[in-house]
Amino acid sequence: MSVPMNVRAARAIMWTYLATGLTIFLLMLLLGIAMRAEQAGWITLAPGSFYSMLSLHGIGMIVAMAIAGLGTLWYFVNREIQLDARIAYTAYGFFVAGVVCVIVAVFPGHYGALWTMLYPLPFIGTYWPSWATGVWLIGNALAIAGFVILCAQMLAALLARYGGFRGVLAIDYVFQHRRFSEEGKEPPPPQMFAAAITAIDGLISSALGMLYGIAMIVHWIDPSVPLNPLWAKNLIYQFGHTFANLTIYIAVAGVYVGLAHCTKRKYHTSVPLVVAWWGTLLFVILAYFHHLYMDFVQNEALQYIGEIASYLAAIPVVVVTIFSGVMLVHRSGLRWGLGALFLYAGMIGWVVGGIAAVLDATIPINFDLHNTLWVPGHFHTYLLEGVLLFILGWMFVQLEQRSGTLSSLLTRWLVGIGIFGGGALFVLGFYIAGAAGVPRRYAIEPAPGPQMASIATIGAIIVLAGFLAMVFEALRMARLPATEANA
Ligand code: HEM
Repeated sequence: MSVPMNVRAARAIMWTYLATGLTIFLLMLLLGIAMRAEQAGWITLAPGSFYSMLSLHGIGMIVAMAIAGLGTLWYFVNREIQLDARIAYTAYGFFVAGVVCVIVAVFPGHYGALWTMLYPLPFIGTYWPSWATGVWLIGNALAIAGFVILCAQMLAALLARYGGFRGVLAIDYVFQHRRFSEEGKEPPPPQMFAAAITAIDGLISSALGMLYGIAMIVHWIDPSVPLNPLWAKNLIYQFGHTFANLTIYIAVAGVYVGLAHCTKRKYHTSVPLVVAWWGTLLFVILAYFHHLYMDFVQNEALQYIGEIASYLAAIPVVVVTIFSGVMLVHRSGLRWGLGALFLYAGMIGWVVGGIAAVLDATIPINFDLHNTLWVPGHFHTYLLEGVLLFILGWMFVQLEQRSGTLSSLLTRWLVGIGIFGGGALFVLGFYIAGAAGVPRRYAIEPAPGPQMASIATIGAIIVLAGFLAMVFEALRMARLPATEANA
């Protein structure tokens, strides 16, 4: 039995996005190691280089995860509703153009006002030329355009397939459960909630991000046009925080589909799962207020909304997803290939990073942890040990299914110790230094920053070794002959 043409075309899109995202990830990982080594005092970079590299690393990593995850999500939506492949390639073109602009802004442009590009920082007292700021802003706008195209395509398809927002959000399934079941109807599968919430919240926050980007481009062209700094900060953090957060929800779709494959069970949509996703839909776009706790001019009520939203956006969906994930694995006779290992370990990274994040979003605790290395500690945990692992997990589930084999025990240990073990050592350095009050975004840190950075750099090098071992294994499996069903 051969694979139909439309499935082949969808797989080609998924693999193009995955390969691009993971290649960008590897390049940004090298930058990350160089920055951590400078903080450890192992190497000395030219003045300013740390901040240029941090700008590229921060945005590059998030976009890498988004590209890899979106390719997978697009593939899942396409399995329910056939999508036009040309639109996915158009969005891909925008992403690639955006990435190229951002790289040019940093090498050779030396742009160094970070992904936040907080007004008016990119315009005053800079050590880089004005054109680099412009190219950076245009690159960001192009990447946002790519994201909007994919979100719009997926949302339109979901609305058509499930009968508007009422069907997509499974409102009747929750409020008229019995009638719904008696009529033999089915709610959308869990991964479609990930797609719908990504698309809806992605479109809202992209509109705000694009508004900010265009305002900044106008100011770049004509500096006499002033912007309100508080307005600007609200917009960029709304977009930046939501986009970074959505990478988790994009990638978690891989858990729903991948774990079901591995356990040969169905990941059912349930009422708690739907309600939890409603929480994420509503609160993920409000949680960013926690970035402005220190802004005394911000309306006080918004600070409390930020704290409550931070809890409600994350906790319900984490609890329900992980509880059902564990139940799925329990007594399933699952064989622990790299796919299942990554998906399962990714849930642990998601929980640990999530707890560290909501702690930091709690106002009295934020007084101590604000802008310390605790912050990169929490987001590196759920991005490196959560989102990345979900993406790798789904990738290996595909490879294992295609070849009908699992990796050897030795390979699993090598990759596992590299990515999970090295990763744990790497994030630990951020947490300990952060708890001791070492500030984030400093090329040269006060004690115990450099000591912790040394340990973390060793951890990051181990991650690199594990990642390379994983790449070799993936390429080896991809070259194995496909089983009959996948030929
Ligand atoms: C082992 C792999 C990695 C290494 C060695 C690394 C290293 C670093 C370092 C040294 C910083 C600066 C911390 C500071 O002083 O504030 C940083 C910041 C950051 N990293 Fe990573 N990182 C890694 C993986 C990732 C991943 C997987 C992501 C996202 C998917 C990511 C996203 C970011 C972001 C968003 C920032 C903040 C940029 C900013 O403050 O503007 N990193 N990373």
